[in-house]
Amino acid sequence: MTDEVSRNERIKEASDYLRGTLAEGLREEITGAIVEDDQQLVKFHGMYLQDDRDLRSERSRKKMEKAFAFMIRVRIPGGVLSPAQWLALDQVARDYGNGGMRLTTRQTVQLHGIIKSNLKATLKRIDAALLNSIAACGDVNRNVMCGANPDQSQAYAAAIELARAVSDHLTPRTPAYREIWLDGERIAGGEDEVVEPIYGKTYLPRKFKIVVTVPPSNDVDVFAHDLGYIAILDDKGSVTGWNVTAGGGMGMTHGEPDTYPRTADVMGFCETKDAVAIAEAVVTVQRDWGNRLNRKHARLKYTIEDRGLDAFRAEVVRRAGVQLSPPQPFTFTSTGDRYGWSDGANGRSHLTLYVENGRLLDRAGAQQMSALRQIAQNHDGDFRITPNQNLIVANIPAERRTEIHWIAQEAGLLAPWSGLRRNSMACVALPTCGLALAESERYLPDLMTALDEKLAAHGLTAADIVIRMTGCPNGCARPYLAEIGLVGKGPGRYNLYLGAAYDGSRMNKLYAEDLEHGALVAALDPIFAAYAAERQKGERFGDFTIRAGFVAATGNGRDFHANVGNQTRRAAR
Ligand code: HEM
Ligand code: SF4
Repeated sequence: MTDEVSRNERIKEASDYLRGTLAEGLREEITGAIVEDDQQLVKFHGMYLQDDRDLRSERSRKKMEKAFAFMIRVRIPGGVLSPAQWLALDQVARDYGNGGMRLTTRQTVQLHGIIKSNLKATLKRIDAALLNSIAACGDVNRNVMCGANPDQSQAYAAAIELARAVSDHLTPRTPAYREIWLDGERIAGGEDEVVEPIYGKTYLPRKFKIVVTVPPSNDVDVFAHDLGYIAILDDKGSVTGWNVTAGGGMGMTHGEPDTYPRTADVMGFCETKDAVAIAEAVVTVQRDWGNRLNRKHARLKYTIEDRGLDAFRAEVVRRAGVQLSPPQPFTFTSTGDRYGWSDGANGRSHLTLYVENGRLLDRAGAQQMSALRQIAQNHDGDFRITPNQNLIVANIPAERRTEIHWIAQEAGLLAPWSGLRRNSMACVALPTCGLALAESERYLPDLMTALDEKLAAHGLTAADIVIRMTGCPNGCARPYLAEIGLVGKGPGRYNLYLGAAYDGSRMNKLYAEDLEHGALVAALDPIFAAYAAERQKGERFGDFTIRAGFVAATGNGRDFHANVGNQTRRAAR
């Protein structure tokens, strides 16, 4: 390792608060791409330059430029959209994108396939809907999540209020976004001291992710994030304050044991009035202590592993000027969504829909974009994207229940029976993600069909088992917190992880490497058989795989990779 700062640090430093040469690059008509340094900067504006990897070889044969297009990720704190905002995103997806919307595992919407010449028009429409994409990607605090489970509306109101306050406080202040995308005027002179009081010129060493949740639901996967707030409720259901978690993160690199996913530690308890100050202090400690030499060691999880939680907590408390008291007890029951109808306040109801891998499209036989547009056109409640890539139509008056139910059913948006499908997530991967080593979103449904056949044979169709797949080890669908985790290793090959806790509190452990479709099904079938035959009452699949000796329980942080192969029992094949 060198002691020079990484290339991205130099790009940020020289970027004049995220401007770079983006404005000029947009005017350059000879290519659908932008120059390399700007490709890093554009992430801070919520965009990735991508190309359609399905078309790469054909275009290269024809000596054509790659099929470049941009992905735009909108910033939507807590995943809450008004019907007007839903309709605006639906319209831009059809006018400028690939016609569909991707609901993400962090409660945002991604629009894919937007060509460079349409970027400004798209962002102006998004702005007109009172939304933006600033800091949806990049080395900054990204979309702040908020548990979407619709019960306990009083506590939910406190949680979404905190999520929005933290999000507003940590949004970059640079006027670059407005200047470049919305034709804003550049305000002359004197910016340096005032532009980014929290981030400074070089922003954070790496991405930063914050969530807020209300137990018993851990739908946000609080332990997977850099900073988290867990609501503590009194016996009337009011929020008395928040347990603060720090140092979670999923990404790692195959074959590099110095990189690892990590679950966050509970740092202490704070009152609501101090929560934003704590967030700012956590962010500035990471700004100053985080590793800027090696991007693979730059997340807060490594800062905490290297410096120790006690030193980190002491510095946060010192900077925030508030106290953290000992954490208070809480219980999580699951990371999943509660599908179907539930009752809200004022006689209104919520309907949680199932969106396979978050991908909304008008397909033959399942016109999902059209169905949701129809629902939105007459809706006076809101839409909430869940952390499991699903969608809640919230606050539906009694008289619209039947109609909305019927529209959702026709479009295939009601939850299936399969316990595996109900608890599944896959990242985007191919063809748009440049980092994908294997398929994910396009393959998981087929794998689940094969696994469902085996589960049915063992009488386990309805068993809730959390399964998550990603096309590479970066972990965008949080696979290391799934009872069955599948991580792409190469084309058609996956590493299989088992043994995570159903409530999201413990990661899984590597069970077998480099499995292709047939081998995956063959590896899991006997474990399903054993689960059907030997499980104890109420025992979850992840816990069972440990008790029955298929994998050892994983440790945290550096220990994630320890004890691999430490099995007392292999599946009989
Ligand atoms: C080093 C780590 C990571 C890198 C380099 C990375 C990069 C990317 C890229 C390039 C995409 C765009 C894919 C596409 O839409 O074509 C993406 C999607 C996404 N990533 Fe990551 N990612 C990383 C880790 C994570 C982690 C740990 C999480 C969540 C805990 C996450 C959350 C997401 C989400 C929500 C999406 C949107 C699509 C989806 O829901 O699957 N990412 N990421
Ligand atoms: S996990 Fe890997 S393949 Fe999947 S979207 Fe994230 S970066 Fe791409």
